[in-house]
Amino acid sequence: MEAFDREIPGSHRVQDRTAPEAPPTVAVDEFHNEADTDNSIAANRAWGRRILERSAYSRLGIDTIEAARIDDLDTLLTTVGATVHAADGWQTLPVETRARILHDAGDVLGAFRGRLIEVMASETGKTIAEADVEVSEAIDFAHYYAARSLELHEVADATFTPSRLIVVTPPWNFPVAIPAGSVLAALASGSAVIIKPAPQAKRAAAVMVEALWEAGVPRNVLVLVDIEEGDLGRELVAHPAVDRVILTGGYETAQLFRSWRPDLPLLAETSGKNAIIVTPSGDLDLAAADIVRSAFGHAGQKCSAASLVILVGSVAKSERFRRQLVDSVRTLRVGVPQNPLSQMGPIIEPAQGKLLRALTTLEPGQSWLVKPVELSDPSVADGRLWSPGVREGVAAGSEFHLTEYFGPVLGIMTADTLEDAIEMQNASAYGLTAGIHSLDPNEVAKWLAYVEAGNVYVNRGITGAVVQRQPFGGWKRSSVGAGTKAGGPNYLMTLGSWSAVTAEP
Ligand code: SER
Repeated sequence: MEAFDREIPGSHRVQDRTAPEAPPTVAVDEFHNEADTDNSIAANRAWGRRILERSAYSRLGIDTIEAARIDDLDTLLTTVGATVHAADGWQTLPVETRARILHDAGDVLGAFRGRLIEVMASETGKTIAEADVEVSEAIDFAHYYAARSLELHEVADATFTPSRLIVVTPPWNFPVAIPAGSVLAALASGSAVIIKPAPQAKRAAAVMVEALWEAGVPRNVLVLVDIEEGDLGRELVAHPAVDRVILTGGYETAQLFRSWRPDLPLLAETSGKNAIIVTPSGDLDLAAADIVRSAFGHAGQKCSAASLVILVGSVAKSERFRRQLVDSVRTLRVGVPQNPLSQMGPIIEPAQGKLLRALTTLEPGQSWLVKPVELSDPSVADGRLWSPGVREGVAAGSEFHLTEYFGPVLGIMTADTLEDAIEMQNASAYGLTAGIHSLDPNEVAKWLAYVEAGNVYVNRGITGAVVQRQPFGGWKRSSVGAGTKAGGPNYLMTLGSWSAVTAEP
């Protein structure tokens, strides 16, 4: 119980986002997870409403993005050269000085919380609650990697040589936490960084980068480039001066990067097709709540999201459990993030292709428990606002069983035994997250022995990994060239090279 008894600095403070922040009290080599905004405090609710009122009209980050625009190869090559050159200054700083700057970056990200939420709500349609959690995660990455960087050079009998230049290509769905995590890790390992934000989420990345600059990360060591994803993207990724690329995105993008440069050291966290198993011993109330949160948080647009639920034995036949699930899905409030009551926002682009099919078409033997409906709102382009859907009767091996959709649609499968359920859960080519709701220790032990996923969760939702407690990263096709997990103790070590030091006797 020691960990729980330890007093966490600041945890007893009444949190009021409108009050000036108390000076940080945590040493660089300590770590504690940042608290999300406490909305039981009226001042914080009013603060959130003011952010959302501004959000639709925001022009945050636009100047930064215009300054970062690169349209020709010469400018790109000059930028790469200058960033490699700047790496020297960053690498030769005392490790403690670098760690201090990165730790401070966490505090500045905290001071930027309102701006970051505003830009995420404007740009990617995140609800205020989802955006708030993401800022906390970004702060955690800063504090955590700053602390870990102090240990990086202390491993006996081997020396660590940082990369000089790491390119970061983040996704749009976690527009602050994932870019921040990748950039902060690369900087903490001693490398200079070029970040190329996702086209849908440039401004959020720009505001995040601004926070890091404000904390003291030199502007020539952390460089944001706004380029098209075509030829210039290939030139950047394939450039021989780029020592590593950290990609979070689709499996196909990782393959594309590899085709551009087969020897590219790539750390890619990619797609997922994730399922939660519910056994008769599980707490069904908790399971229903966790399923709904995991499937429809950020409208299902998380690589970690639950796309399937596999009901076992008597739960598979339970009408009561289905009613419970249906009721909680139907009562989810769908709407624009500018409405503080919205629990599920729009999807990033109008639904098309396989997602549109999943929202509108059933395969043989399937039926809708909750049919998704396209909603209209004057501030959202057609095709972007959908109510959540739940389909029944997903068969093993069917398209829905094995396809990643990245949207607000959940499928129900049924299994006679836990063994069958595990087989269905593992059938995917991906292996990112997986969950089980069971209160039977033997079932849980069996599941843990056989489940094939990087992040496995027992009696909890399967999204929202917490830095340090749940380092994040997948197996099988969910991870290309990675092997260690973001927000975990070994991640920084994979970002440079190691050489053994052999002392003569
Ligand atoms: N880290 C996120 C989660 O756990 C996904 O990238 O949901």
